Amino acid sequence: MLSEFGAISARCASGVRGGSMLVPLLILSTALAAANIGKHGGIEVPEFGEPITNLTVAIGRDATFECIVVNLGNFRVGWVKADTKAIQAIHEHVITHNPRVSVSHSDHSTWYLHIKNVQEEDRGQYMCQINTDPMKSQMGSLDVVIPPDFITEETSGDTMVPEGGTARVSCRARGVPPPRVMWKREDGQEIVVRDHTGAKSKTHTYQGEVLKLTKISRSEMGTYLCIASNGVPPTVSKRIHISVHFHPVIQVPNQLVGAPLGTDVTLECYVESSPKSINYWVKDPGELIIPSEHHEMTVRQKSMFEAEMTMTIKNIRREDLGSYICVAKNSLGDVESKIRLYEIPGNDRHVDQYPDERITSDDDYGTEAYDDETENDNVKSNRVPDRANKWYANDGKTVVANSHASIAKHTTALTITIIFLHLFKTIL
Ligand SMILES: *[C@@H]1O[C@H](CO)[C@@H](O)[C@H](O)[C@H]1NC(C)=O
Repeated sequence: MLSEFGAISARCASGVRGGSMLVPLLILSTALAAANIGKHGGIEVPEFGEPITNLTVAIGRDATFECIVVNLGNFRVGWVKADTKAIQAIHEHVITHNPRVSVSHSDHSTWYLHIKNVQEEDRGQYMCQINTDPMKSQMGSLDVVIPPDFITEETSGDTMVPEGGTARVSCRARGVPPPRVMWKREDGQEIVVRDHTGAKSKTHTYQGEVLKLTKISRSEMGTYLCIASNGVPPTVSKRIHISVHFHPVIQVPNQLVGAPLGTDVTLECYVESSPKSINYWVKDPGELIIPSEHHEMTVRQKSMFEAEMTMTIKNIRREDLGSYICVAKNSLGDVESKIRLYEIPGNDRHVDQYPDERITSDDDYGTEAYDDETENDNVKSNRVPDRANKWYANDGKTVVANSHASIAKHTTALTITIIFLHLFKTIL
């Protein structure tokens, strides 16, 4: 019996060596049946102890089938891949040429088929056979699952679209089972989707391989994540940046800015632009202003497309008065906005022109008037008072550190002067 089996094994092995991986199942069945002669009617008939557990294994991992047989006696256990009829192993011998396959057993009752580093072609039904007559067999299936992976050619890269246009980005992933794709915004904001009727809806996650953003607005600009998952780790994600391009716009909070000579004043322009604009300041009628100690400039980027540009003119001189233009320029065009800087009379003169007369000068009345006007009328257009607490003489020395204290002092002096003049008139 052993020798017969051995002969068949040799035949199988030679078949494999001959280059054919596929040994007809018939040969094995015949072999097993032949090996079975004399066992009919025996008391100890082999039986399967329990069904083979189906396996689901991620590609690259190892799989082990377990075939439990009771009363095997002198019979043999073989493993056959059902779809290809390729004999994997007979008893303790591996028949297939697949180097990843091995067999082992414990106590003659539990027979293992090991498949290392599982590949897609390993997927299928595996049959555990006992060479009884008729042959006994049971099957277990191996499912090979594959984690998701993006198909580069069918997955979008960063995208640019004009405002009002349609951004269509796609993410396709392969994997087993087929992955599902969903979209999220990286900044956690909602995605605006519009159906065919144009009705808008907002969602934090959008399901589908293709994300279509129609009539896109600048607020939809940002980084989108497409995430593919199929239950097989790891889940994969890809960042796709959607830029929305538009002609720059400028908003000016204060188009009229009044300030006394000798003070610092800050002009502000709010720019929206994508792609980012080049921003600069021009003194009307057309002199480009270079950043300097006299003209301090900042551009603060507040979002992907919003920027705040400021220019602080230090220690305003008469020649600084006039119109300033902030300009924003990108590839789609340029825009400019004008700010007029005018003098609020009074304070400059006692500082710059009549420093010796400042206590009794009529100009001090102007100081007070300016202060009141500022509070009431110029709130919208004049931001100077906040910054007017330090005034400078031409030599750069601080003349008055706190305008309000000094005004109070000056007003008292002025009131006394006026009362004195009235008295004087009355007497005359
Ligand atoms: C294995 O899967 C097959 C279907 O492919 C099923 O008929 C059988 O019952 C499963 N076996 C076990 C042990 O769950």
